[in-house]
Amino acid sequence: MITIRPFKDSDAPALIEIFNRAVNELASSAYGPDQIDVWSKLCLTPDQWIEAMTDGRTTFIAVDENDQAVAFSDVESDGHIRFLYASPDVAGTGAVAKLYAALEAEAKKQGIGKLYCEASELAKSFMVKQGFSVVERRDFELRGVPIHNYAVEKRLRPRS
Ligand SMILES: CC(C)(COP(=O)(O)OP(=O)(O)OC[C@H]1O[C@@H](n2cnc3c(N)ncnc32)[C@H](O)[C@@H]1OP(=O)(O)O)[C@@H](O)C(=O)NCCC(=O)NCCS
Repeated sequence: MITIRPFKDSDAPALIEIFNRAVNELASSAYGPDQIDVWSKLCLTPDQWIEAMTDGRTTFIAVDENDQAVAFSDVESDGHIRFLYASPDVAGTGAVAKLYAALEAEAKKQGIGKLYCEASELAKSFMVKQGFSVVERRDFELRGVPIHNYAVEKRLRPRS
């Protein structure tokens, strides 16, 4: 059974494994080898994961019955989602939908008006199923390698 809890420092090694497997085993279905290579290099070190996940953002870790992280995400106070990664072991099982439901419920509780992120091809498919709209495709270079993602957003309450 999957449950959702906040990040703990001891999750850092699991986040690295999830990130690497998500990029290499899942995202590789939509991006080429050079793109996967530069994306993989963006993985943070254990200390950097701890710093990022404890900088004030709200964190969501999906864990299995052994409290082992299998997917993770976050939301900043302005509604920006920086991370959304799942282990291939749970991708497509509904675990990420459960993770996202917790994120959206917490964002509403915090009074966040809009969630937004720069989504990969896979994340875009997932986010659209969660009610996000695609704002635009973003083409850019990552360490000299052309790559793309999508600006997506979901309004949680009407513009005031
Ligand atoms: C984004 C992510 C967390 C979504 O979780 P998920 O459980 O896979 O969500 P879904 O089952 O709704 O799948 C989303 C899309 O991923 C793709 N996908 C899912 N499982 C896959 C698998 N085992 N192999 C290849 N592609 C897969 C599909 O294209 C799917 O879109 P579709 O339903 O329109 O076909 C997960 O796919 C992931 O970690 N991806 C790699 C990392 C990434 O892109 N992170 C986002 C950074 S912005």
